[in-house]
Amino acid sequence: MTQTELAVVILAAGKGTRMKSARPKVLHEIAGRPMLGYIIAASKAAGASRIVVVTSEDAEEVRAYAAAEGAGSAVQEPQLGTGHAVACARDVLGRFAGTLVAIYGDTPLLTAGTIRASAEAALRGKRIAIVAFRANDPTPYGRLIVKSNGLLDRIIEAKDATPEQRKIDLCNAGILSGEAGDVFRFAAALENDNVQKEYYLSDIPVLANGEGIGCAVVTTDEAEVMGVNSRAELAAAEAAMQVRLRTAAMEAGAGLIDPSTVHLSYDTILEPDVAVAPFVVFGRGVTVKRGAEIRSFCHLEGAVVGEGARVGPFARLRPGAMLEEDVHIGNFVEVKKTRLEKGAKANHLAYLGDARVGAGANIGAGTITCNYDGFDKHFTDIGAGAFIGSNTALVAPVKVGDGAYVGAGSAVAKDVSRDALAVVRAEQREIAGWADKFRTRKKAEKAAKRQNKSKGR
Ligand code: UD1
Ligand code: CA
Repeated sequence: MTQTELAVVILAAGKGTRMKSARPKVLHEIAGRPMLGYIIAASKAAGASRIVVVTSEDAEEVRAYAAAEGAGSAVQEPQLGTGHAVACARDVLGRFAGTLVAIYGDTPLLTAGTIRASAEAALRGKRIAIVAFRANDPTPYGRLIVKSNGLLDRIIEAKDATPEQRKIDLCNAGILSGEAGDVFRFAAALENDNVQKEYYLSDIPVLANGEGIGCAVVTTDEAEVMGVNSRAELAAAEAAMQVRLRTAAMEAGAGLIDPSTVHLSYDTILEPDVAVAPFVVFGRGVTVKRGAEIRSFCHLEGAVVGEGARVGPFARLRPGAMLEEDVHIGNFVEVKKTRLEKGAKANHLAYLGDARVGAGANIGAGTITCNYDGFDKHFTDIGAGAFIGSNTALVAPVKVGDGAYVGAGSAVAKDVSRDALAVVRAEQREIAGWADKFRTRKKAEKAAKRQNKSKGR
């Protein structure tokens, strides 16, 4: 894009008090990913070669997350406002001389396109650029006062605005771009003579105008730049992200019958011709391959569903569930860290954990892999074409050979040879006429009780 290098400074040192949470605000998740993760990803996609996250001193967790995502960090202590926060990134960026974009860490829906548009507007016009939007409810936002030539005069923060200024609906999205030297010079020159006694990043346009540099306005949709300050706003951002993810999934060829009831994660992969019924939740790390079907009320996380496989209704796939082609997982079946090979079936009521189920094997209703002894997990290996009868407990570590049968109700603690039948249950006994005698005795007892009662009256 631009002729110069791009650096992004993400502001994340604020207290986030309106969330009423022990967790730092920017680590609150949307579609399974911390808000900060979206901004780092969008910054990278926009071509940023340097990314610096500004945090409070005690936010070790935020710095660790930033580092894991390939971003640097700077400390702002104490938090004297958004302008002061940008100034705190100066040392980390050293002699960086390209275009700098400052972004608030609580605008998770921001796209790479808008970051780029803002950087380009700054570079092209040799100006500062601010991203703005028309707010449905502008109450909490800084308002833009635009000059007749379309450039920005200044931003008035909500708390400093007059009733007349509060009627303006063109708001500051919190993305400010400029030549790095200019931005840092202005950030250092800010004053805090406002209601909150803070150094506002949003006061930079006034300083830029003072130097004749000017400030361009780049507009975008509110949906992309809504700020998240409270739990309710987090939920609203989640809803918007879900719409975005569902639309992308459908555009890529997945069939969602009732999209509004399907919950996706940022990394969910649904291949073409996947069919998702209403009310399905995809946690992190799920891939569903071509032609597979996910029926209603399933919960999937860290799982791969193979081509043409069928899952649910009411199934749970936990991390490490690997379903190969044409596997069937039915209602009330839980699968964890288990590979089911081609065409294997577990159609009802089962727990498969730490196991392999060979191709074409059939797992009967009520089968449980007893994988845990209170200390360690153990492996169950079920061979290809094996048939596990209903209500079988497989006490791991244990192996059932290829093509073997296990009789219903067995507690299998020893390996079963291939093509053998294992039955582990007490021999059936029969007592002729027992039921009839039992009923006669019970009826007589009841009749005697009734008689005693009526005498008592
Ligand atoms: C800010 C803007 C406002 C804009 C709105 C958009 C200012 C003064 N106001 O208001 O014009 O319409 O965002 O969502 O810039 N932060 C720091 N250090 C600080 C203070 C804040 O790093 O000292 C960080 C916060 O963690 C947050 C971001 O900056 O990620 C914005 O701060 P916040 O307090 O949420 O600003 P708003 O009041 O929403
Ligand atoms: Ca905010």
